[in-house]
Amino acid sequence: MKKVLVINGPNLNLLGLREPAIYGSRDYNSLLAFIKESAAGLGLEVECFQSNHEGAIVDCIQQAYGVFDGIVINPAAYTHTSVAILDALKAVAIPTVEVHISDVDSREEFRQRSYVSLYASKVIKGHGFDGYKEALEYLATAK
Ligand code: DQA
Repeated sequence: MKKVLVINGPNLNLLGLREPAIYGSRDYNSLLAFIKESAAGLGLEVECFQSNHEGAIVDCIQQAYGVFDGIVINPAAYTHTSVAILDALKAVAIPTVEVHISDVDSREEFRQRSYVSLYASKVIKGHGFDGYKEALEYLATAK
């Protein structure tokens, strides 16, 4: 069975509370339940990790080496700033899909640059929670 790691970056633990007009009213626990249900339906084993700390995300990616077959990552604000997360993904070379709940392209200009996109095989933006399911579907069928 393929093992997929889902990583959520800073402030995604505040889903539901955080700018509901942009991110919706469902909380982080509902996202976890949605991811677990989606993964089970696709026959994937899934583990979820969330951190507000860049280094903790880098550590998590490094520890995925040799353990996970795929990564789904919403790096949140670190998307737009973190060369360290990009380098960690390149180092472990695990197939990765980048997900954003909101449509970052139609928001502030600073959200339009993504370092992680320089490595990710696929980027899904603006599909809400469904984006995570689409990412899992992609990894389930990717070679
Ligand atoms: C986000 C978009 C980012 O620009 C923002 O900093 C986030 C969440 C999204 O899921 O839409 O924290 O990654």
